[in-house]
Amino acid sequence: MHAPSLAPSLEPCLDPRILASGLSGLHLIDGAMVPAAGGKCFAVHNPATMEVIGEAAEGDSADVEHAVAAAKAAQPGWAAMRARDRGKLVAACGQKLLAHVEELARLTALETGKAIRTESRVEAGVLADVFTYYGGLGGELKGETIPFHPDQIVYTTREPIGVVGAIIPWNAPLLLMALKIAPALVAGNAVIVKSAEEAPFGVLRVAQIMAEVLPKGVFSLLSGDGPGCGGPLAGHPGIGKLTFTGSVETGRIIAHAAAEKLVPCTLELGGKSPMIVMDDCDLELAIAGAVGGMRFTRQGQSCTAASRIFVQRNVLRGFVDALRAKVDAMVMGDPLDEATDIGTIISPRQKATVERYIAIGEGIDGAVAHRCSALPSDPAFASGLFVRPVIFEGLDNDCQVAREEIFGPVTMVIPFDDYEEAIAMANDSDYGLAATIWTRDLGRALDATQRLQAGFVQVNQNLVVQPTLSYGGVKTSGVGKEADLRAMLDHFTHGKTVLMRVR
Ligand code: NAI
Ligand code: MG
Repeated sequence: MHAPSLAPSLEPCLDPRILASGLSGLHLIDGAMVPAAGGKCFAVHNPATMEVIGEAAEGDSADVEHAVAAAKAAQPGWAAMRARDRGKLVAACGQKLLAHVEELARLTALETGKAIRTESRVEAGVLADVFTYYGGLGGELKGETIPFHPDQIVYTTREPIGVVGAIIPWNAPLLLMALKIAPALVAGNAVIVKSAEEAPFGVLRVAQIMAEVLPKGVFSLLSGDGPGCGGPLAGHPGIGKLTFTGSVETGRIIAHAAAEKLVPCTLELGGKSPMIVMDDCDLELAIAGAVGGMRFTRQGQSCTAASRIFVQRNVLRGFVDALRAKVDAMVMGDPLDEATDIGTIISPRQKATVERYIAIGEGIDGAVAHRCSALPSDPAFASGLFVRPVIFEGLDNDCQVAREEIFGPVTMVIPFDDYEEAIAMANDSDYGLAATIWTRDLGRALDATQRLQAGFVQVNQNLVVQPTLSYGGVKTSGVGKEADLRAMLDHFTHGKTVLMRVR
């Protein structure tokens, strides 16, 4: 059991080990950093060395009760504020977080193994931006007037739902938390977040900073495991809305919990995103787009990873060779080193899953796994969870490796002869999150944007989600959208229709 520590000072702290240790044993509930009700903790590791960096508070149903009670007490007052004033406070959180970008980047690199230059610092910067973006949208919580009858005034209003429960994963914890809490708060809800077991500290630091700005109780953050802490949160009768990012399997559990209570839920789940490379495209651009789109810098741990790359046969050889060369040139190593492009997989469990998929692929007749880059040679990282990026050739779109989400640095290049064949294969998937097409033929690009079954479709580029761009999947990739104004209106408010007889 970890003796509850005093929360760390709010001065930015560039030593992430000091922060992880200081944040150990604590939740943020009702505006205060408090130990878990049951007094238990669980170890958190640096995946680059497997050293223990701290012990997170292990939440259970008693912590959930505490947070829900605080949220219910605080939410009516929060909802009664002028919407733009709530927004100003959320934007003020963004301003405060800007001063903490570097420490959050370092803490994220330490606990997730994501390289500081290519991933963690970028994510910490976008975090602040999400708060700033939604903070400006308080005045947009508008309804409509309806010309129903000349003798009546009829209008709709947007009202907060009440208390929102959010469950987040470890692959982009800061960003994915922000995309849920910023709109939920601006809309007048109180929010309780359950962080992922693997990455509890970065988001807890964010919560501690936010608590300086927000009224107590409107935002709480609990750490703990899925069934023990996420389960009671999802099932609590005081939670009127669930929002989740993670696996399809857990998404179904969350959807069941929502169905039991008949409350709405938003689900951002997995992907097996296709990238279609036509022979008339700018090949250099497409190769760079494959490296970025596959999120090799995040070890492929992204739901939008371009994990199925369909390449027209006559440019296949050049494409694969150039892609291999580019990934080979990427540096794997210490996530906290500025020179590092690629850090580590998040956990031993996730590494075993990734390696299992690689072995399945290698076992298929005719398959070739190009292993790229090189493991770090420094013995300090000998126990680190590094996996060399793999580019498969010789797999077809029907095999298990092409059907299931791997969530690791594994992509495959599948040849096609004509466009129709590529579209058919791209859409032949249980998933439908993101898709891209690379071509100079405008008509074909437009045709593909209409026919690709995905929520986020791009032509000749492969950008990541950002504020103002509606984001979310179809098929088993999820239900609902995030990241734009509509996401706030549709997913964090109830509509009310008011009819007034005037004569
Ligand atoms: P997961 O979906 O089990 O975990 C995500 C969150 O859900 C964590 O906070 C976890 O504690 C919580 N959770 C787990 N079981 C729960 C339960 N019964 N009730 C309430 N909350 C629960 O994902 P996991 O196990 O970390 O990764 C497994 C796979 O999921 C990955 O290999 C990947 O394919 C996919 N994944 C997709 C993500 C995305 O961005 N869409 C993010 C993370 C994982
Ligand atoms: Mg799981």
